Amino acid sequence: MTENISAPAVSTTQSGAPVTSDAHSKSVGADGAIILTDHYLIEKLAQFNRERVPERVVHAKGGGAFGTFTTTADVSKYTKAALFQPGTETDMLIRFSSVAGEAGSPDTWRDPRGFAVKFYTTEGNYDLVGNNTPVFFIRDGIKFPDFIHSQKRLPGTHLRDADMQWDFWTLSPESAHQVTWLMGDRGLPASWREMQGYGSHTYQWINAEGERFWVKYHFKSNQGVKSMSGDDAEALAGSDADFYIRDLQENIAAGNFPSWDLHVQVMPYEDAKSYRFNPFDLTKVWPHSDYPLIKVGSMELNKNPENYFSQIEQATFAPSNFVPGIAASPDKMLQARIFSYADAHRYRVGTNHAQLPVNMPKGQLNNYSQDGQGRFHFNAPSTPVYAPNSFGGPAAVEVQNPAGGWENDGELTHSAHSLHAEDSDFGQAGTLYREVFNDGEKARLLETITGAVGGVTHAEIKERAIQYWTNVDAELGAKLRANLGTGQTESDAEAATKY
Ligand code: HEM
Repeated sequence: MTENISAPAVSTTQSGAPVTSDAHSKSVGADGAIILTDHYLIEKLAQFNRERVPERVVHAKGGGAFGTFTTTADVSKYTKAALFQPGTETDMLIRFSSVAGEAGSPDTWRDPRGFAVKFYTTEGNYDLVGNNTPVFFIRDGIKFPDFIHSQKRLPGTHLRDADMQWDFWTLSPESAHQVTWLMGDRGLPASWREMQGYGSHTYQWINAEGERFWVKYHFKSNQGVKSMSGDDAEALAGSDADFYIRDLQENIAAGNFPSWDLHVQVMPYEDAKSYRFNPFDLTKVWPHSDYPLIKVGSMELNKNPENYFSQIEQATFAPSNFVPGIAASPDKMLQARIFSYADAHRYRVGTNHAQLPVNMPKGQLNNYSQDGQGRFHFNAPSTPVYAPNSFGGPAAVEVQNPAGGWENDGELTHSAHSLHAEDSDFGQAGTLYREVFNDGEKARLLETITGAVGGVTHAEIKERAIQYWTNVDAELGAKLRANLGTGQTESDAEAATKY
């Protein structure tokens, strides 16, 4: 609420002229018809009809805050990116979100959480659009629309449906690692402040000498990692659907600024070819024993948005927003996303979404794009409108070491990525369950999947789901089967050796 009740300013039309009444339309006598010349009434109603933009097709429910990222370590031997040079402070924006629910859905439904960061660097905006999990359900973007359809609503009933969720997951065994995260404690964070963030993909860093490295980003919460119980999450979904938004706002308003330390794993460029599994496969983590965490700096959130719609709903984060020293990798998911987001933004917010204050880069904008709905920025009238030109218009920098490339050779094909010795769909999911989860986490995972798979009505899909968990861990699969009271059609041990 506004804090002071004071004398109001005169209300005006959108064109700035004072208006006579915000309470009574202009009519022919007190009880007569309203007339078309009441343009202020028409303006109010017409503007109201256009208040909504389409919600994000995924990650529709969210909230965010502004803050500062400070680079505290020297990682210049890996990247020349200005924001990651020692001592650099960079303004940033973060938007947290859940994935499958609509804009009004409860914050505490079990889901991965979005962790989208926009750094307003001196060399342009750098967006790192990640999640609170280091992996994802699929490894090729061509499956993304199908995956999301299976998690959202059935077109006929408009209900979410366990059969299609588990049908998709069990027919896409590469999902097992992420589904184990999701059904584990991290699927229900206690708050956005108390969860980790990950860039998830493998990205490329390039140093001043043009040397290339593969990197993965990890944001470690200084608030610790905490989860809530299924019962608490369910109760909050009913009593306070906006629990995470409120928690973030209240903590920042009270000066209790949440912060995260950013670490990276760095893989030398040549290692990728012979690493034991494909390092560009988004369903895999790189064990820290192979590539240890290297601290880069810290991010503090210290400012709430002043207007949710202008600064959070209209914020546009795109994995294609790179800066010099940072680039893409052969990860097929990342490449699909590089197209997808900027396209979504043109549709959702408009052709000129990048010109809104929250999306506008801090540095100079120099290019030849122009016009379009809602255009705000324009070049000086003396700037030529085409390139090449003879009149001093902006020109691209010739880069000596072409940044962000990698070698490729092969026929055009629709095939899975190249295989490495230890590629497997279930291996890391099993390791997560057996070696990372403690006994309490294991018990809660079993309880959660018992409930989730228990919601499947189709016998064949239910059996496949039990096999799926058996492939993650034979003992876990056997316990699930026992909980569900389903007769065994194939020995769990036999099934576990299938992958
Ligand atoms: C939002 C597509 C995979 C994290 C979105 C949006 C689209 C999209 C269209 C809405 C953008 C908007 O309207 O502003 C895709 C496609 C994917 C993919 C095609 C696979 C090829 C991923 C992955 C992650 C991720 C792997 C995390 C590692 C996010 C986040 C948002 C988002 C955090 C919300 C950004 C915000 O807060 O505005 N995605 N996505 N997505 N996606 Fe993805």
